[in-house]
Amino acid sequence: MAADKKHIKRSDFLKGELKGVEFADPMKMFSVWYQEMIEKNCPDPHAVVFTTASVEGFPASRVVYLRELVEEGFIIYTNYLSRKGTEVAENKNVALLFYWECLERQVRVEGVVEKVDPLISDDYFAGRPRISQIGAWASEQSSVIADRKTLEDRVAFFEKKFPTTVPRPPHWGGFLIKPSYFEFWQGRLGRLHDRICFEKDNDWQSYRIAP
Ligand SMILES: Cc1cc2nc3c(=O)[nH]c(=O)nc-3n(C[C@H](O)[C@H](O)[C@H](O)COP(=O)(O)O)c2cc1C
Repeated sequence: MAADKKHIKRSDFLKGELKGVEFADPMKMFSVWYQEMIEKNCPDPHAVVFTTASVEGFPASRVVYLRELVEEGFIIYTNYLSRKGTEVAENKNVALLFYWECLERQVRVEGVVEKVDPLISDDYFAGRPRISQIGAWASEQSSVIADRKTLEDRVAFFEKKFPTTVPRPPHWGGFLIKPSYFEFWQGRLGRLHDRICFEKDNDWQSYRIAP
């Protein structure tokens, strides 16, 4: 079926420009953009599309929350036995995609992933609300379940099992995504967008690419 072009809204991108490489370190540049999202109260600054691929190379994407930015990269938290968890156990090449509509920006990141130190996961888990802690035990993330009641029964089971402190499940924790490639995209007038890339050799090398 042909798309009805009348209904496609074409809006121009006018909110910023990327004159060139503003920072030698892309993590620094990322943190400046990220901070701007937070300071300007833009919606969903932490939401990021996380893409993994099976060992055969079939990709899969889902939204997760960026929980911490560290010098080495990006930390997210999840179930290690989920689809993403089992895929990265076999293929550590991953990608992140931030779409920041509010500032007409996107940031693409590619790199490798590794588990964070269990003590870091313990610390983060301990600060989560109790309902989320129980959920981490109750939900066998990405597994087929018979019905909603099965999940709710498991929640009730773990509520009883852990009446006070909830320990971190061994299958739940953080992943650190260590970047080797970045693209910073700033929307511009007439689709002549700015795109600045960084690639890690020993140091970071940067260059501009065509929109
Ligand atoms: C806004 C948003 C934030 C999310 N944050 C997380 C998260 O931080 N960790 C997580 O495991 N899943 C998160 N999810 C759920 C994932 O998108 C996904 O459903 C889940 O991780 C299972 O993915 P998988 O089966 O591919 O492993 C979030 C979903 C949305 C829409």
